[in-house]
Amino acid sequence: MRKKIVAGNWKMNCTLPEGKKLASEVIHMVEDEVNNEAEVVLIPPFIHLTGIQSLIGSSNKIFLGAQNCHQNQSGAFTGEVSASMLVSCGVTHVILGHSERREYFGETDELLSEKVNFTLENGLTPIFCCGEKLEVREARDHESLVGTQVEKALFDLSEDQIRKVVIAYEPVWAIGTGVTASAEQAQEMHAFIRNQIAAKYSQDTADSIPILYGGSVKPDNAKEIFSQQDVDGGLIGGASLKSRDFTNIVKAFD
Ligand code: 13P
Repeated sequence: MRKKIVAGNWKMNCTLPEGKKLASEVIHMVEDEVNNEAEVVLIPPFIHLTGIQSLIGSSNKIFLGAQNCHQNQSGAFTGEVSASMLVSCGVTHVILGHSERREYFGETDELLSEKVNFTLENGLTPIFCCGEKLEVREARDHESLVGTQVEKALFDLSEDQIRKVVIAYEPVWAIGTGVTASAEQAQEMHAFIRNQIAAKYSQDTADSIPILYGGSVKPDNAKEIFSQQDVDGGLIGGASLKSRDFTNIVKAFD
C-alpha cells in the first residue's frame, strides 16, 4: 500500500499569530475527527516553521514542510535557507519546483535536480512538483512536457533515492483558478508519470512512490480525485488556509 499524503502549501500567507491559530485548529480537528492513515503535512512560510513545529510536537500523523530550499549547505547566499537548517527546525518535507518558483524565480529543471539531490542527502522528503501550462495542454504536449520535467529533475537519482521522493502533479491552469482537472485527467497524468518511472526503474519502485494532485482541490471534489487509482493525495493551496476545509479534505480518505 502506498502512503497517502495531504499537504497544505500556505504559500506567502498568514502572519505568525494567524499561522499558529490555523495550525492549532488543524491539529485539533485532525486528531479528533480523522479516521485514516493519511499523513498530513503543514507547509507554512519559512519564518513560521519553528513556531508551528512547537504546536505539532512529535505527532506521527502531522508533519512539517518547507516551501523551498537552497542547493548549497551554507555560505554567502543572502536570503536563502539550507536543507540542514530546515532539518534542525524539525522539517521533514520540502516542496521543490512549484510552478510559482519556476515562473517567478526562474527555477530550471537542472537547478531542481541539484535541489532534489541535496535535500535527499540531508534526509528530507522532497515533494517534487511538475505540471503544464494551459497552452501546453491545448497543444496536447502535456505528457511530453511533464515527462521532461520528471526526467530532468529525478532520473539522475538511484533507485533507492527515487523511492524517497514524493511527486505532485499540479497543472498550472488549475492552480488558484477554481478550475480543477477532472478526476480522469488527473488519473491519466498520474498513470503516465508512474509508467515513466516504471520504465526507467522498476514497476515495484513506481508503485511505491506517492503521486499527489494539486490544483483547486476543495472539500467537495477531494473524494472523487483521491479515489483514482494513481492519485495518492493532494497538495492543497487556497483550501489549506481554512482549517475546516483542509480537515475535510484530509477526511476524504476516511
Ligand atoms: P490551489 O489549491 O489554491 O489551487 O493551489 C494549489 C497549489 O499550488 C498547491 O501547491
